[in-house]
Amino acid sequence: MYIVFEGIDGAGKSTQIQLLKKWLEDNGFSVETVVEPTDSEIGKLIRKILQRPDAANDRIQKTLGLLFAADRMLIMDKLSDENKIILSDRSYISSLAYQTPANWIADINKYAKTPDLLLLLDLDVNISVNRCSGEDEFENEGFLTNVKDNYLKLVENYRHEIINANNGVNKVSSDIKKAVAPYLGICPDCIL
Ligand code: TYD
Repeated sequence: MYIVFEGIDGAGKSTQIQLLKKWLEDNGFSVETVVEPTDSEIGKLIRKILQRPDAANDRIQKTLGLLFAADRMLIMDKLSDENKIILSDRSYISSLAYQTPANWIADINKYAKTPDLLLLLDLDVNISVNRCSGEDEFENEGFLTNVKDNYLKLVENYRHEIINANNGVNKVSSDIKKAVAPYLGICPDCIL
């Protein structure tokens, strides 16, 4: 099962993935995690470009769109392991939310894997801006408001759950467990 975590910057995806991984393993599942952008050469290049002052400009956005698509191609095989639950920090749905134009982004990601379950960690933009370092060009209020709106529309195309990410870490974690449990046949009473 390929479970994807999405959300604006600072939504807590990486922390929540680790907490869910531990809980799933305690429940007997074999779990693998992946992160986009990856730690490949392409991923490193992406992180460098994200820090450029012109990273939000149209031409750089299109270049990033292509790099993100190429970077995720490198981990394609990992995502289809039948014996494991794959927890992914982002996916091509990030590209659909952050990059434009939508049709073109969809085209260049046509071989990307669709999630079996999409968890949107929905965070208020002002909390996001306060939590982020501001190092990346995307971490500003106007841009993130647009990304958040995009996410809320995009999730409708997938089997999804929306998690309120404005709460504390433990509450968010238990909400995620409750959301995931029915998909994995875990009894609701087993959730702490
Ligand atoms: P991420 O590593 O989640 O952020 P952080 O640096 O806070 O840990 O992602 C890096 C940035 O890349 C983030 O602003 C979202 C952006 N991104 C895209 O714009 N398109 C994509 O396809 C992906 C995977 C990420």
